[in-house]
Amino acid sequence: MKILFFDTKKYDKESFDKILPKYKGIEVEYVQADVSEGTAKYAKGYDAICAFVSSDLSKKVIEILAESGIKLILMRCAGFNNIDLKACEKHGITILRVPGYSPEAVAEHAMALALACNRRIHKAYIRVRENNFSLVGLTGLNFYQKTAGIIGTGKIGAAMCRLCHGFGMKVLAYDMYQNPDLDFVQYVELDQLLKESDLISLHCPLTDDTYHIINSKSIKKMKDDVVLVNTSRGALIDTEDLIKGIREHKFHSVGLDVYEEETNNVFENREDDILETSITSRLLSFPNVIVTSHQAFLTDEALEAISYTTMENAKSFIDGKIIENNIVK
Ligand code: NAI
Repeated sequence: MKILFFDTKKYDKESFDKILPKYKGIEVEYVQADVSEGTAKYAKGYDAICAFVSSDLSKKVIEILAESGIKLILMRCAGFNNIDLKACEKHGITILRVPGYSPEAVAEHAMALALACNRRIHKAYIRVRENNFSLVGLTGLNFYQKTAGIIGTGKIGAAMCRLCHGFGMKVLAYDMYQNPDLDFVQYVELDQLLKESDLISLHCPLTDDTYHIINSKSIKKMKDDVVLVNTSRGALIDTEDLIKGIREHKFHSVGLDVYEEETNNVFENREDDILETSITSRLLSFPNVIVTSHQAFLTDEALEAISYTTMENAKSFIDGKIIENNIVK
């Protein structure tokens, strides 16, 4: 099997190269470009492509991949909201993903964002470097004995519940399915979670139901001085409504690893560019907001698990095995 690996970053190549010798008969060619309408044609001559959460796998791109003979898309991530599943089904393209490489990696980043924005670590870091030892504007909130509200208690949400519990927080959760392992969590309706939580962290997938689940109406229901964290998907939050809420002083702090319109920014060095939209710069203009660039997954352990599961997915496909990680069944 020949795999064309799109959007290669140094850390991807390192983690895949480490395990490739174990997979005889599978060849990987790395390219820096991401898959798009312009680059999909380069997949001709390959059996599979390997793509990521920010790759363009829209209908047109899938058509070009199908014409190029691609039978398999190996997603080296959990999310797949960027893929036109109908087009894949139509063209008989299998999509395999890595459903849970390291939930703790993402949950720990969510907690890192919550703590950093709450305690204004981003401002303190810059200040002290400039010999400014003033504490004005750096006041945070204790999490101890406060209430955490976790939306979505799958693998990552459950890990975040455990972290919040460890901080001595009362943990409320909202999900259609109750996770039986979380006996310390109180499941409530979304409205109650919004009303009572001091820290709200989003861990549900982006679906038609969850699109803009955080909007001006839900923001109004939140406590004043709430800390909001999103490490799930940008479009869970209506950014314009969030910006309005921040301007109205609703939030103590906001930590975002994902945000709407992040696609062109994610994993790119754009320091010489003039940005097309003002969302990123407006978010960054607030002293109580921290934005990271979709890095919640990025730990050694997660990268190792991603490369291992991706290669096992490829091997199972070659062996014609039924694969749990199949998205289009
Ligand atoms: P999961 O599938 O284990 O859990 C998702 C949970 O959300 C499930 O319990 C499900 O019942 C719940 N859910 C679905 N629709 C809901 C709704 N309308 N309201 C409330 N809950 C709902 O997924 P996992 O592995 O925990 O990942 C969660 C999300 O994290 C992914 O969908 C992905 O978007 C994001 N993610 C972000 C990463 C990053 O680097 N920032 C890395 C990996 C995942």
